[in-house]
Amino acid sequence: MTAQHKAPRGTRDTLPEDQPYWEFVREAASRTSTAFGYESIETPVFEEASLFTRGVGEVTDIVQKEMYIFKDRGGLDLALRPEGTAPVCRAYLEHGMHNLPQPVRLWYWTPIFRYDRPQAGRYRQHHQFGAEAIGEAASAVDAEVIELLWRLYEELGLTNLTLQLNSIGDSKCRPKYLEILRDYYRDKLDNVCLDCRARFDRNPLRLLDCKQERCQPIIAGAPPITDYLCEDCAAHFSELKALLETARIPFTLSPRLVRGLDYYARTVFEVTPPDEGAQSTIGGGGRYDGLIELLGGRPTPGVGFATGIERIILKLQRQGVAVPQRERPQVYVAVQTPAARVPAFRLASELRRAGISAISAAGERSLKAQMGHADAIGATYVAILGERELAEKTVTLRQLAGGAQETVPLTDVVSRIRPSR
Ligand code: HAM
Repeated sequence: MTAQHKAPRGTRDTLPEDQPYWEFVREAASRTSTAFGYESIETPVFEEASLFTRGVGEVTDIVQKEMYIFKDRGGLDLALRPEGTAPVCRAYLEHGMHNLPQPVRLWYWTPIFRYDRPQAGRYRQHHQFGAEAIGEAASAVDAEVIELLWRLYEELGLTNLTLQLNSIGDSKCRPKYLEILRDYYRDKLDNVCLDCRARFDRNPLRLLDCKQERCQPIIAGAPPITDYLCEDCAAHFSELKALLETARIPFTLSPRLVRGLDYYARTVFEVTPPDEGAQSTIGGGGRYDGLIELLGGRPTPGVGFATGIERIILKLQRQGVAVPQRERPQVYVAVQTPAARVPAFRLASELRRAGISAISAAGERSLKAQMGHADAIGATYVAILGERELAEKTVTLRQLAGGAQETVPLTDVVSRIRPSR
């Protein structure tokens, strides 16, 4: 016998019993996005690989270690989407969205692929809900996307979250800071991990993002970037903080927060539950004013976030948040005689057309087995068709909970099940 197939490592099936959580989160995400004036967008699951190498950054873990890249049969280098921002910016450019009123507000709900080391809350295929506001530089839009994310978590009933906030400056002030950071690290290179030694030369800001134990004390002593912001970046950051206070969104200043993608400028933020380690970050984002230009467009500012659905659901489950349960069929149509099979099929069909969910028994099973089946799938009613019912043009309607039973003319079944209609 051939070995049975399994879902690839780091991927998961979302089974019917998981769906209530997914629907609960998706519905809240859609509703919150609409309340903030965001419209939904979908981009392809794969893109040209260079979109991400350029957009996310050559020297990021996502591009260097985590991207699923492949050549298609025509020889094109493609990548499964490792994040959602670069594709949305590509679509903004491709469809001339700069001609629309700015900023263009978009949201997405989408699978993301990263060749990560799988563990609880970390998968090779995960899903993100994200929002992007493209075409406006004002800090009010930064505050808006953060508020959207925060309201979603509130809606879902997630508690005990911390919003970590930082500004990493722009192309005017960051180079000067990077020199200061290098000066600080220069005599500590013997004590940092190998990756950090490479970061020192190629991408020094990433030094602050290292997760290795040995590098933590060095990161903790590094000069904070917020002390070196230029006047414009500092003003932008103070306005943002004031707006968040106005919206009563609590935040913690994290002057060493830099995030794992290279496109950020000015605002960066992450939302974390307490004491669960780096893998528990449930959402993050920031401003990416240089990205559209990097992708070949005119200089266009943008800001957004993404939040991991699997991590949200894990947290909902840990917190014991109750979600609406999946709907079960209202009626199970059972047959007591082979002659009732076609009428039963017809009855189920009529019920569904009247907006009542129904399934009819299939195969050869005893009435007892059919009752057991109806119970197992959680139906509310069993409608039994036997010889007597066929002759009288009636149906025996039995409520599974409690067992109340009555004979109802076929023509009255719909109104009996849904008396308000
Ligand atoms: P990110 O921080 O890389 O940002 O990912 C966003 C969220 O996706 C994380 O906070 C986390 O909840 C979830 N996530 C990331 N990797 C995994 C994984 N391997 N397994 C499960 N969940 C994961 C971005 O991707 C940016 N595009 C966000 C953004 C939008 N910035 C501006 N606009």
